Amino acid sequence: MPGTSKLDISTLESRDPFKQFNCWFLEAKQNKNIKNPNAACLATCGLDGHPSCRMIQVGDFSDKGFLFFTNYDSKKAKELSQNKQCSLCFYWDHLDRQIVLKGRAEKIKEHESMDYFSRCPVAQQIKSLSSVQGKIIKDKQELVDRQQRLAKEFETTKKMPVPETYCGYLFIPDEFDFWQGNQDDIDDRLRFRKKHEHEDQELVTPGEGFWVIERLGA
Ligand SMILES: Cc1cc2nc3c(=O)[nH]c(=O)nc-3n(C[C@H](O)[C@H](O)[C@H](O)COP(=O)(O)O)c2cc1C
Repeated sequence: MPGTSKLDISTLESRDPFKQFNCWFLEAKQNKNIKNPNAACLATCGLDGHPSCRMIQVGDFSDKGFLFFTNYDSKKAKELSQNKQCSLCFYWDHLDRQIVLKGRAEKIKEHESMDYFSRCPVAQQIKSLSSVQGKIIKDKQELVDRQQRLAKEFETTKKMPVPETYCGYLFIPDEFDFWQGNQDDIDDRLRFRKKHEHEDQELVTPGEGFWVIERLGA
């Protein structure tokens, strides 16, 4: 029915953006048409001022933030070492939903990354270890050889070498922008952001804790 919002402050599952995210994420996970609900686009910007983006796999998330893993020699890691401010964008086509998160990424402790790595399936560990992300290579064969060597090594030692460049980041959001597409009707958009000091409370709806909620044109 035109004018009926699918996303409205009055009918939110939660006024805590992490809990609201979790509700949408669970729906995305339960939707059989969504192959990879954990995939998100990460945008970073280094000192050259030129934004770059790429898909990543978001591992765990909690009210502390969103975990992701990458290679410390990669372009994204270099840019994050110059500028922690970054954005994440989830898009779930079959639900007509997008969530854009603005925040910063903090490198997690090395032992935490290693702990996560040790819990990954062996095939994934081998893939990470043989990755030379972003480096120019002569041909694919050198990666295939490296992968085979690592698989053989594992077969005999049952131990995987500790990857020097594997590292994890915790993305800590300070803004969540929920977008709901509505076929044949106006799309909905709600932004959760942290309350500013001395701001006019009349224009915003209080969320949980220090969060406020605003409706935006979609
Ligand atoms: C669905 C999907 C998930 C991906 N997940 C990751 C990931 O979790 N970590 C990662 O480093 N690269 C991941 N990649 C590869 C990146 O998109 C990218 O090509 C790579 O990290 C190099 O990016 P950079 O050179 O901009 O740093 C993924 C790609 C796709 C399509």
